[in-house]
Amino acid sequence: MMEDKGPPGLSPLLNGRLGALADYPFPRLTALLSGVAPLANVEPVVMSIGEPQHAPPALLDQALRDNAHLWGKYPPVAGTPDFRAAVAGWLSRRYALPDGFIEADRMVLPLAGTREGLFLLAQLAVPEEKGGRRPAVLIPNPFYAVYQGAAVLAGADAIFLPAVKETGWLPDLDAVDDSTWARTALFYLCTPANPQGAVADLAYLKRALSLARRFGFVLAVDECYAEIWDKAPPPGALEAAKALGGLNPTANLLVFHSLSKRSGAAGLRSGFVAGDPNLIQAFGRMRNYALAGNPLPALAASAALWRDEAHVEENRRLYREKIDAAEAALGGRFGFYRPAGGFFLWLDVGDGEEAAKKLWQHGAIRVLPGAYLTQPEPSGINRSQPFVRVALVHDTDTVSRTLERMARILA
Ligand SMILES: Cc1ncc(COP(=O)(O)O)c(C=O)c1O
Repeated sequence: MMEDKGPPGLSPLLNGRLGALADYPFPRLTALLSGVAPLANVEPVVMSIGEPQHAPPALLDQALRDNAHLWGKYPPVAGTPDFRAAVAGWLSRRYALPDGFIEADRMVLPLAGTREGLFLLAQLAVPEEKGGRRPAVLIPNPFYAVYQGAAVLAGADAIFLPAVKETGWLPDLDAVDDSTWARTALFYLCTPANPQGAVADLAYLKRALSLARRFGFVLAVDECYAEIWDKAPPPGALEAAKALGGLNPTANLLVFHSLSKRSGAAGLRSGFVAGDPNLIQAFGRMRNYALAGNPLPALAASAALWRDEAHVEENRRLYREKIDAAEAALGGRFGFYRPAGGFFLWLDVGDGEEAAKKLWQHGAIRVLPGAYLTQPEPSGINRSQPFVRVALVHDTDTVSRTLERMARILA
């Protein structure tokens, strides 16, 4: 549980809730490594950040140029009918949804990357109180830092659900008591999970959505890694909605998708939120006040990307190749396992911070201590302290050589 107290030095005129947030993971890493000189005469390899490095497809550039005459126009916050249709078409194909299940104009909104939508959602979904108590936002632990920022700044209690090896790297839904569910306003779920790479199966998603309906909260499923998978395409929460059925089959559900990973286009800042039409309508209303809307050329390019699968398949092949290389370099060590989705390794190196320092000093390799992605438990224990997160985003050869070096340094 977070308390609303600012850090020393935070002006009382500022939003004191900011003080309840841990520093963002990357400045923490910079601080950790600030006194450590990296190995000289070697090009540093930054594996701390999940920034795709594959060149985005040529059709992105082409679509931006074809639509360059639209840069002068203010874009509608709800995007264009063409963008929404492209998204609805992709969702329907990807998750085998029946015709008409996704009503493009009522159930889809563009986002400038999922990040802004995931943040803004807490402003929308957290009421003043729930059942007479302070509302809670449930967050898997470890987690994408934005979930916590969103929850705390919206005035909710952030409640962290361990997503560790013993729970299959996903939150254990049975470990949450009814009293907690009853005051839950919002539950962020990430599948494939960052950093652990675990994928929620359809039964899990159905159960999470049933709980959302029973206890009246919003289930926000962050599926931004959905297209980077190893053996099988991860199921989506919209499939769970289809399976559960009902008058409004997407009731209580929002899913978030992005072109940042799928198309290697993080700089385009393009994603979308889709699901419950009532929530989408309210989201659009809030977005009108809060955000700027995606530029029209970017929306046109995004629509072209959502309609193309060839570049996504190639992207996936390249990530799989890197995971093969990682398995060859590390298999059997540091608790290595092939992530079912996403492009991170979650390695047990004994002490994440020590390993990060050692790898920087002796190998010019930058990795992120797992503890920086994880809230300590009330007992003070941080169960990710032994871990580091390693992003497999460089070319396969670099990944292979760097991981071999990493294994030697940590041996
Ligand atoms: C779990 C998760 N969600 C959301 C995002 C945001 O991605 P974007 O805003 O580029 O769509 C990231 C980015 O790294 C992420 O790891």
